[in-house]
Amino acid sequence: MDVPSVITIDGPAGAGKSTLGELLARRLGYLYFDTGVMYRALAYAASIAQIDQDDADTLGQLAETTTIEVSPPHVEDGRQYTVLVDGHDATWQIRRPEVEGLVSAVARHPQVRQVLRQRQRQIGQAGRVVMVGRDVGSVVMPDAPLKIFLEASLDERARRRTAEVNAREGHADQQRVRADVARRDALDRHVMQPAPDALIIDCDPLTPEQEVELILAHIRRI
Ligand code: DC
Repeated sequence: MDVPSVITIDGPAGAGKSTLGELLARRLGYLYFDTGVMYRALAYAASIAQIDQDDADTLGQLAETTTIEVSPPHVEDGRQYTVLVDGHDATWQIRRPEVEGLVSAVARHPQVRQVLRQRQRQIGQAGRVVMVGRDVGSVVMPDAPLKIFLEASLDERARRRTAEVNAREGHADQQRVRADVARRDALDRHVMQPAPDALIIDCDPLTPEQEVELILAHIRRI
């Protein structure tokens, strides 16, 4: 099987990109890299520095000066990876509602996106990587040989996100999670375009394992 050196997976919040990305990377022996982590890490740094979410120039400078390191988990507490923001372990903080509420606003500024996309590109160019996000196939790595775009209904995404939050925090209100996913859909829409040559997968009827099999079958065919 001739496996593409870069595989991108894009799609809306709660479509299951990170579960699929991690499974696929593990099957292929590839690095798994979630670009959303960088936007979350920056939103976290902005909240600590109390930078206004509309202050594009200061946020752009913050993106340039903030060190974001993503590495294999160094603590066994259910994390997929460890995220250090300026050397501080912020793996769980970047999942907190305060960051969740801020991240789309921070991520919408071109000054921020330009800096983070450049760093993402460097990771992609090293190869043997599954990269997950919103615009990875369309903008960050448009030459990636295999681009995947996940689609899933709002109800299914809210259901999956609720289960995720529940597993992590012990409680989750599905209606609130659904409203939050819908809010983020509206805010993220401007960056979320499937690449013209993306393989579109409707995830509603599929388990993550079935999605992996579907992608591996596609790789064998191409
Ligand atoms: O995938 P996620 O929920 O962790 O993403 C967090 C935020 O970052 C989300 O609001 C969209 C934004 N994002 C983005 O704008 N571009 C990406 N490539 C990845 C995420």
